Amino acid sequence: MLAGPSEGTHIYSCWPERLVGSLQAALDFACWPPKQIHIERFAATLDENFKPEPFEALIESTCQTLHVPADRSLLDVLREHGFPLPSSCEMGVCGSCECGYRDGVALHRDSSLPLSKRQDRMMPCVSRARVSLTLAL
Ligand code: FES
Repeated sequence: MLAGPSEGTHIYSCWPERLVGSLQAALDFACWPPKQIHIERFAATLDENFKPEPFEALIESTCQTLHVPADRSLLDVLREHGFPLPSSCEMGVCGSCECGYRDGVALHRDSSLPLSKRQDRMMPCVSRARVSLTLAL
């Protein structure tokens, strides 16, 4: 039933994480449109072995380069420099801080962004970058 998108069919899922993660991967692989997928998570699934590294965030509209230290989130640094992105959970779960990026390698650490959107969207409350990336802000 999940092998390919079916018009008018919506998929809803929540806990447990193994089910949600497997379902999301299968739906992304089968190219289901994100608007037909409704997944709710109640906790972050962060890798405890992840070691944050500093990186540079280039702001496309202003040509500013912001330094993001290893111990701060991109969301915090953006706010400090006058980019008031919305947020709620700040754990990579709710999706409210989503923003666009290009030219760089994002290190996705959230639990809400579907695979199909990860090439140019990210959650700056928990996600980071390898060396640098350009934000579509
Ligand atoms: S604030 Fe919830 S995903 Fe970033």
